[in-house]
Amino acid sequence: PVTAVILVAAGSGQRLGYGIPKAAVPLGGEPILMHALRGIVASGTGSQVCIALPPGEDTLRRLCEDFRQELADGGPLLSIVDGGATRAESVRAGLAALMDGIEAVLVHDAARALTPESVFHRVTDALAAGAAAVIPAVAVVDTVKTVAATTGKDAHLAPEVVTGTAPREELRAVQTPQGFHLDTLLKAHEAARGLDQDESAAVTDDAMLVEMLGIPVHVVRGSTQSLKITTPLDLILAEGLLEGPLG
Ligand code: CTP
Ligand code: MG
Repeated sequence: PVTAVILVAAGSGQRLGYGIPKAAVPLGGEPILMHALRGIVASGTGSQVCIALPPGEDTLRRLCEDFRQELADGGPLLSIVDGGATRAESVRAGLAALMDGIEAVLVHDAARALTPESVFHRVTDALAAGAAAVIPAVAVVDTVKTVAATTGKDAHLAPEVVTGTAPREELRAVQTPQGFHLDTLLKAHEAARGLDQDESAAVTDDAMLVEMLGIPVHVVRGSTQSLKITTPLDLILAEGLLEGPLG
């Protein structure tokens, strides 16, 4: 299918705590955004790459425009849009800027700046094989439990109490790029407009919206190198990965 990549890079990076948008934070001397962008182009994925930037981030915008000049003939069309207040709104801003003829879309977090080409290929291969929705994921190493705030006579013991333990072998930590047939993703984001504020806040990826439609979401192998740079520790890990990929 004729494919586009929507690169969502419009977040503020609160948890990284740099005081500038996360996409602009340096990693190996270059903004996180540029690593993500080069990774997409190197993978050869997409006839179009649509980047959602924080509104008013003129330096990042100029870097993207310079990169567009560098792209050889035959490279993807590079589009730049203003992102929205939430990740989902940034995705929708990207969807609104797709060129005619696009049949499939990969949505990718700029924060997963070091995603290996092989992950892009596993996602696009599954799309080409006919999957309407496909996500990369890895096994979970921690035991994961659900909790609730402690109430009643035990409230002084600890802030939270366990309500359940999910069977770890069934759990996956989900990454991006997430791939969709365009009509599926459009339908999912159209349905998302009907969610109330709490429901919207609970939407952390695009696949969730597709799941709500009852459409199967297929899972391919992700990569530990695809970590989402979220906290200062993640940035240290990413700097380390730049020095030499994992075996
Ligand atoms: N994102 C976006 N538009 C938003 C919010 C997030 O494009 N309004 C993007 C981010 O730029 C990032 C990806 O979605 O590439 C995943 O979001 P996250 O890791 O949460 O990044 P931030 O929202 O920037 O970080 P934080 O939540 O710590 O502020
Ligand atoms: Mg966020």
